[in-house]
Amino acid sequence: MIFSLGFATLLSLLQVATAQTTTATSTAPGATSTVPLNYAAQAAGKLYFGSATDNPELTDVPYVTILNDTAMFGQLTPGNSMKWDAIEPEQNVFNFTGGDQIVALAEGTGKIMRGHNLVWYSQLPAWVTATAWTADELTSIIQTHVTTEVSHYVGKIYAWDVINEPLNDNGTFRSDIFYDTLGSSYISIALRAARAADPNAKLYINEYNLEYSGPKIDAMVQLVSDLKAEGVPIDGIGIESHYILGEVSASELKANMLNLTSLGVDVAFTELDVRIELPATDADLEQQKSDYTTIVSVCMEVADCVGVTVWDYTDKYSWIPASFPGYGEACPWDENLVKKPAYDGIVAGLQS
Ligand SMILES: *[C@@H]1O[C@H](CO)[C@@H](O)[C@H](O)[C@H]1NC(C)=O
Ligand SMILES: *[C@@H]1O[C@H](CO)[C@@H](O)[C@H](O)[C@H]1NC(C)=O
Ligand SMILES: *[C@@H]1O[C@H](CO)[C@@H](O)[C@H](O)[C@H]1NC(C)=O
Ligand SMILES: *[C@@H]1O[C@H](CO)[C@@H](O)[C@H](O)[C@H]1NC(C)=O
Repeated sequence: MIFSLGFATLLSLLQVATAQTTTATSTAPGATSTVPLNYAAQAAGKLYFGSATDNPELTDVPYVTILNDTAMFGQLTPGNSMKWDAIEPEQNVFNFTGGDQIVALAEGTGKIMRGHNLVWYSQLPAWVTATAWTADELTSIIQTHVTTEVSHYVGKIYAWDVINEPLNDNGTFRSDIFYDTLGSSYISIALRAARAADPNAKLYINEYNLEYSGPKIDAMVQLVSDLKAEGVPIDGIGIESHYILGEVSASELKANMLNLTSLGVDVAFTELDVRIELPATDADLEQQKSDYTTIVSVCMEVADCVGVTVWDYTDKYSWIPASFPGYGEACPWDENLVKKPAYDGIVAGLQS
């Protein structure tokens, strides 16, 4: 009771402090809620509501002002600066400058970090893929990369995406330098190295298209089951959640998450956005609000869903327009850093 009174008082103070004016030039519907997202998530028993960010964005003072607000965001994920090409651009030459900058921002503003990512087929420096490594050589390369990066950030990362996107949509393992050289053993090699380097970090496999029923989620359930049976450390599965407008199935999403958590792992929405085919209409923005509510509500319904991360909070820095031509407006804040109806949708989900 004392907690809820204190929280309500704090919320009303924050509502006064962060109340936004609507831009006079915009005719689009905006958000009306002033409830901050991280506090709402934590009030609902979750660990965090967070956002991806990226180093080039950190010179944008209005953007960083919102990002810094710990009532709004309690967790950060670096979009690029902890990936292999940024961290180990040449063999045994490590560069932590970009990752350190985001960790410092998180530490300075009381946020936890998701480290993203250690082993992925994409954004690899040329030296990794240019040589026909033996299995022993590539094992050592993975161990050195994982051990050095995780050790550098030991104690500063809540959860690591140790393995990123290992599966094809048809449920087979993705063919890449790691799988083609080592088979699926590269996954346990990386997970064991990460555990040894930071025993307290949660170790995740992160993947897309686990939101829908089908061979991919079945294969992920099998993979987690196999890793657990072999005693390989695995603590969580990241459900990326890059949605297309109107394609949310709460029942499939929830069932898939429960299939994973029943094996003794956490789940999290790690890269949430809901892209719209452009131009977005007011009706689209209302549908997007509804989609965000539905998705976030499912995390509330699954006890071992620890938190939600949007793949940047604003359309200004969304990856969608460049990666999915003709689509955009996927984030809860618009390009002018004004909250969209989707913001109210997230609050409704967090308070469901
Ligand atoms: C390390 O990374 C930073 C950030 O990307 C970059 O500016 C810098 O040039 C890099 N340092 C070296 C020695 O490559
Ligand atoms: C954001 O927080 C960091 C870390 O405390 C601080 O150095 C920076 O000045 C803040 N930036 C803004 C725009 O508030
Ligand atoms: C599964 O998908 C991958 C990637 O598209 C493809 O290369 C492979 O042949 C497929 N395997 C089966 C059994 O369909
Ligand atoms: C997921 O759970 C459903 C309902 O309990 C079950 O029918 C299905 O077989 C499970 N899928 C997997 C891959 O375990």
